[in-house]
Amino acid sequence: MPPQSAHLKGIKIVIVGAGSVGVTTAYALLLEGLASDIVLIDIDQNRAMGEVMDLSHAAHFAQARVRVGDYEDCAGAAAVVITAGVNQKPGQTRMDLVKTNYALFQDIVPRIAKNAPDTILVVATNPVDVLTHAAHKLSGFPVERVIGSGTAMDTTRFRHELGRYFGVHPRNVHAIIIGEHGDTQLPVWSLATISGMRLKDYCAQAGHPYNEEELEACARRTKEAAYEIIQRKGKTNYGVASVLVHVLEPIITDSDAIMTVSRVGTYAGVQDVAVSMPCKLNRRGAYQDVPLLLNEKEQDLLKKSALSIKKVIDSV
Ligand code: 2OP
Repeated sequence: MPPQSAHLKGIKIVIVGAGSVGVTTAYALLLEGLASDIVLIDIDQNRAMGEVMDLSHAAHFAQARVRVGDYEDCAGAAAVVITAGVNQKPGQTRMDLVKTNYALFQDIVPRIAKNAPDTILVVATNPVDVLTHAAHKLSGFPVERVIGSGTAMDTTRFRHELGRYFGVHPRNVHAIIIGEHGDTQLPVWSLATISGMRLKDYCAQAGHPYNEEELEACARRTKEAAYEIIQRKGKTNYGVASVLVHVLEPIITDSDAIMTVSRVGTYAGVQDVAVSMPCKLNRRGAYQDVPLLLNEKEQDLLKKSALSIKKVIDSV
């Protein structure tokens, strides 16, 4: 049974969307013991009930209750995670989903905001940056209380790829992806370290080859991972659900973790856009940017990424 300290009792997390990302997130939350009350909201109540019945049997081994709810149940939630929406089909980009999912957000977000004016919105639906911006506008919440999972997913995939290349645990690779959770994302090579050393220095010290082509391939596989998984199994769920739980953790435990998440702001001179950069998260939300010392090329790529998101924001 996961240890659940007294202060986590009474923590309610609502998940809107009982598709595979929503229910996998509920399952991961249960196993982590991070919430005592997990509510699933879905337009298909019958399906949601089936998922809840199944999850309740898993909840037997944890210390939480899982239930089907409605928007009124958002009241008092520490966070509301939005996973509802259509998914990419093989060959589609995340941006291709914007019209359908934006229309859905116009319905969902005001209902959450009305019932839970003090909660934190965690957006996972794609295109996540555009919809994080939409959720901020539609809720009227301050920017720190509307968080897109953004490139937290890509940063995880990048560390996994680099960890495999360097033969070290991904947790010991300090490297991030910023920008769009999508095709214009960028790796921050200039700040990547292992054991406190820049990658080239680590290679020299550890006797590991430093091969720029191999490193670029790690970044390419990171960017293309979701396309490949969708081609093979039709969706992604475990990776993104685990990332969502790690975004929720510092909110629930008030622990000031730094993660690359998306929030509305000005990035590389582009105003009023949601883009992923490192942010500090605690019970107030994504409350503080951690400005990066990017080199000129990275600044340029970040600007291109922000502009491409802004263009889609302006088109909806
Ligand atoms: C992912 O990257 C599809 O955005 C989703 O797994």
